[in-house]
Amino acid sequence: MGYDMGVKRVLFSSEEIHDRVRRAGEMISREYQGKPLLLIGILNGSFMFMADLCREITIPFEVAFMKAKSYSGTQSAGSVEISLDVAQDLSRYHVILVEDIIDTGRTLKALSERLSERGALSLKVITLLDKPERRLVDFNADISLFTIPDLFVVGYGLDLDERYRGLPYVAEYGGA
Ligand code: IMP
Ligand code: MG
Repeated sequence: MGYDMGVKRVLFSSEEIHDRVRRAGEMISREYQGKPLLLIGILNGSFMFMADLCREITIPFEVAFMKAKSYSGTQSAGSVEISLDVAQDLSRYHVILVEDIIDTGRTLKALSERLSERGALSLKVITLLDKPERRLVDFNADISLFTIPDLFVVGYGLDLDERYRGLPYVAEYGGA
């Protein structure tokens, strides 16, 4: 049994992902030159994207992580439970939230609203993947590397019940 059992087809290869991540890193390096920058990775799904993105940014910055879960059940953004928070005083930073995928949009909408109350100098969201067809609340990332249709995907940090996160590519899950 291979560790990739359940993978139906590869959507984005490791090379394609790294190409986009490299370009995003260059863009961020240009845009935030001379500014105090804090990258906040949303755990667990963003860990691999975050690690690669950090290596493509050529200006000084700080790294932090958050863990958040949104409450579903309503059409509104609702509330978000933050189970791991950042230690930094956000009012001193330009903040970029780093997410694996935006699906209904609930998590990021609620989380970015909560964070903007903490007075960051600016707040932007970068996501590896975007599934706009699934959106239930009005939210869009500032930078989205790949847009996908309504498919369940795994790999490059994304999981199904905590499995498949280590795959170096993004794949459609096919059931196994
Ligand atoms: P939402 O945008 O609040 O619905 O939630 C997004 C979160 O749901 C992401 O951070 C992922 O953890 C998870 N998620 C959504 N779609 C997928 C998928 O296709 N594969 C794996 N995780 C997903
Ligand atoms: Mg996630």
